[in-house]
Amino acid sequence: MDKNYYITTPIYYPSAKPHMGHAYSSIIADFFARFKRIDGFDVHFLTGTDEHGLKIQRAAENKNLDPLDFCDQISQTFRDLSKTLNLSNTDFIRTTEDRHKKTVQYLWAELEKNNDIYLSKYSGWYSVSDEAYYNEDEIIDIDGKIIAEASGSLVEWIEEESYFFRLSKWQDKLLDYYEKNIDFISPKSRRNEVVSFVKGGLKDISISRKTFSWGIKVPDNPDHVIYVWLDALTNYISALNYPDTSDILFKKFWPASVHLIGKDILRFHAVYWPAFLMAAKIPLPHKVYGHGWILSGDVKMSKSKGNILDPIDIINTYGLDPLRYYLIKEVSFGNDGNISKDKLEDCINSDLANNYGNLCQRVTAFAEKNCFSKVPKIKNFNNDDLVMLNKFKENLEKIRQEIDKQNINFYISFIVSALFEANKYFNDQEPWKKKNDKDRLNTIVYTSLEMIRKISFMLYPIIPDSIDRALRIFNLNSKDINFESVASHDYLKAGNNINKIDILFKKIEKKDD
Ligand code: MSP
Repeated sequence: MDKNYYITTPIYYPSAKPHMGHAYSSIIADFFARFKRIDGFDVHFLTGTDEHGLKIQRAAENKNLDPLDFCDQISQTFRDLSKTLNLSNTDFIRTTEDRHKKTVQYLWAELEKNNDIYLSKYSGWYSVSDEAYYNEDEIIDIDGKIIAEASGSLVEWIEEESYFFRLSKWQDKLLDYYEKNIDFISPKSRRNEVVSFVKGGLKDISISRKTFSWGIKVPDNPDHVIYVWLDALTNYISALNYPDTSDILFKKFWPASVHLIGKDILRFHAVYWPAFLMAAKIPLPHKVYGHGWILSGDVKMSKSKGNILDPIDIINTYGLDPLRYYLIKEVSFGNDGNISKDKLEDCINSDLANNYGNLCQRVTAFAEKNCFSKVPKIKNFNNDDLVMLNKFKENLEKIRQEIDKQNINFYISFIVSALFEANKYFNDQEPWKKKNDKDRLNTIVYTSLEMIRKISFMLYPIIPDSIDRALRIFNLNSKDINFESVASHDYLKAGNNINKIDILFKKIEKKDD
């Protein structure tokens, strides 16, 4: 079986510093990348910055900076954020790099060669903030301000010579592709949205601009720069060294397993991108997954709305892993979710400190006192033990399948209930009353230690750094983790040391407590 996995985040506009919405896309992608790695896949995980276009040119002008100097600075803050978020990305692409520019120009030439590009004149509405063209029926006038209804961004009227891509030509082929590849656009609700948009009729799209210069030049006509979305989407293959299709990266990782994006940029990924690829005779990615938004109050967090929550502030106050855990657990994946400090504190106190941290502390402290700080030797499990341990084995395939459907909610619920049951098991079995029945005491400790190990392995893609620390209990570290072994009942070897570890998560004193 093909055990390669290629996951991408959107490449971020370095028009301002990163916010929680960006952190969210990246953390989720990191979760999948880490899960697939512990499940034996060779993973390529790409993120980066989208640096051309009028939006960036204007942002640089506002700061009186040359666009590239401006991008150098802000792109670096995104690169730093990748470290701060402990992302395991294997590449970071900037669209101002030569490797990218070459691919974009090659792709353009391919589209032109295949008669998918023609020169004409564009007149219509454009939102610089979204870098998107809008039809008359997609805009509204609010108190004299003309805005795009979907995003709320200001639009401006433009009229200029422009190259067009024959998007209309691909309408039926796209619909046919969506029908034959039912999961190509996920979740289902987003798929329906796209299908009805395409059924409504596709018009050819403008793919070059003439009135500004910050972009990749059209081959053979340098008066035009290539539309920033055609430029940006190409990052997914320029990072694999396309057009060198014999390159190992391209061979191994294209088509991508999943492009993870926010729902606001679905049309670009689920309509334009596949059409460009079809036109260039390049296979399509397996999936485009449009996640929901992180809301602040009831509205999307964004720079233009001025309601940004800074991920760095949250991390400085609470630590990274609590934030990762919170975003993965509390924002029902696929839907919008609100971020609140109150709920984040609840997560830390109840799930991380109590249910997980405390379980680790209690069991290791008990093993220290009663089993000479060693993994005890056992004779046999009874039914209570096996019910606990078997759950993992029985669900192994199911977990894999749900992950391939991006069903993070299933994954996290499985862990939360396993934690609840492991705590309940330790309480109900009352090993402290079994001092006269050493065999039983040892089996309870062993079963509990195995539960901690299994749960820790599963928690690793969510809170990798904390799990590295937790695994010191067993003299293990994250490199030892493999998902398959979550099924086994005898991973821990009798006689091995059990180490005490520092508190993993400190409880937060809540103001209303
Ligand atoms: N540069 C384009 C993407 C090009 S991909 C070939 C872009 N950049 S962005 O910086 O504006 O947004 C990047 C991602 O962050 C998008 O997926 C967007 O949905 C996501 N988020 C931005 N704000 C968000 C929230 N408030 N909540 C969740 N994600 C949102 O679009």
